[in-house]
Amino acid sequence: MSDHAHFPPKVPLPGPVATALFVSGGSRLTARLRRRYGRVVTVNIAGLGEGVAVADPALVKRVFTAKPEVVSGGGTWAPLAHTLGQRSPFALDRDEHLQQRRLLLPPFHGERMASYASIFEEETLREIATWPEDCDVPTLDGMSRITLNAILRAVFGAQDDEFDELLELLPPWVKLGSFLTTAPWLRKDLGPWSPWRRFLGYRARYEAIVDRLIDQGRRDPRLAERTDVLALLLQARYDDGEPMSRQELADVLLSLLVAGHETTAGTLAWSVERLRRHPQILRRLEREIEEGGKELREATIHELQRTRSVIGGALRKVVAPFQLGDWLLQPGTMILVDGFALHSDPELFPEPYRFNPDRFLGVKPDTYAWVPFGGGRRRCVGAAFAQLEMDVVLRTLLQHVELVATSERDERWRFRGVAFAPSRGGVARIRRRPEPLRVHADAPVGEAVAA
Ligand code: HEM
Repeated sequence: MSDHAHFPPKVPLPGPVATALFVSGGSRLTARLRRRYGRVVTVNIAGLGEGVAVADPALVKRVFTAKPEVVSGGGTWAPLAHTLGQRSPFALDRDEHLQQRRLLLPPFHGERMASYASIFEEETLREIATWPEDCDVPTLDGMSRITLNAILRAVFGAQDDEFDELLELLPPWVKLGSFLTTAPWLRKDLGPWSPWRRFLGYRARYEAIVDRLIDQGRRDPRLAERTDVLALLLQARYDDGEPMSRQELADVLLSLLVAGHETTAGTLAWSVERLRRHPQILRRLEREIEEGGKELREATIHELQRTRSVIGGALRKVVAPFQLGDWLLQPGTMILVDGFALHSDPELFPEPYRFNPDRFLGVKPDTYAWVPFGGGRRRCVGAAFAQLEMDVVLRTLLQHVELVATSERDERWRFRGVAFAPSRGGVARIRRRPEPLRVHADAPVGEAVAA
């Protein structure tokens, strides 16, 4: 191993081309190109300048397990830090991040999630009741409604007026915020109608609603029995006995929403796109529901996240000299843990472009080769929430409607501000089942259909 400061081989894609390819969904193309030059390459990371893309599991492990004093995972440099607030997990680093994460992890623990299953199921039933039969319906918007409503109920604990107001306020605000995340030069006050002024106007309205939710929570005699994330955070205390401030709660809830809404909806829209093109898997999934199982459904979700990752990878910034394999990276260097390149590597996933959930049947995905949720101390805090939500939405959908198979071309990728989604919105064609699929009485013992 050398200790010279130098960069890995460079993929010859100029910044604007790399950005244009990224936004138009060409990231898989660039991932292929990157692999031609090796598993660690110097690239233009869309919008962030030159950095190092890593797609070697052993080195990914080094990046994910590096100390935050050497490799930073968040802070003022992070793209989302400016629009989500100073106490957003994306804006915090080192000890502050760790302290906050200790408070955030318990509400997102796998077992706690079980209480949200009925919310996911209700929201799915409400949404699919509106889908027309026998015609093309793009599902992305519908999936976004499911995931937004689910977060407002399960995370914000919102109902009635606050629920309605957030529902109206958040989608346009998040859209504007995503745009401003990618256009830093517009993040200043350029007059009353400027995007930044509008953004701050939304923020003020948002804070007023969250204030009301916090006040209601603090007055609620049944706060201790509530299961929503806000209720749990209101009761949580830092080591010094202090609760999260109003500002911090507002930043955290917003971050959970922005990180958890489009990502989950995009993956669900991809599930419709993929399964309509893989009818044998669809039939097996339906049979599995009747048998009361869920192993194939889980494997299918893993395979969806591998082949149709909605986030291209995880970003880090070197803050002290960092030896990564043969290279000594200098402070200031950006690192992209390159999910697209890892997930399409034939040595890690044979026949990588084949949609084959069986590869994950009974197999736990490798922590450093399968990285749709990132990794290390920054790994997606909502991963268990997202996985349960995708599981329940997919199961409920298949129970109640038949997805009509298609031989149409695969949908392409499109970047939607926070995450990638299918270009035509994951078009469904459905037929309502006269009776929902139910677990057969003689099915082997397994999961009950009602979660
Ligand atoms: C399919 C759905 C989702 C995907 C693909 C996804 C992906 C990711 C990725 C790649 C990261 C960065 C990890 C890293 O830097 O190592 C992340 C972070 C994060 N995600 Fe998710 N996410 C999803 C759903 C959710 C949900 C449902 C929530 C919350 C309700 C959530 C909340 C967060 C938060 C708060 C962070 C920042 C963690 C930190 O910096 O400590 N995500 N997510």
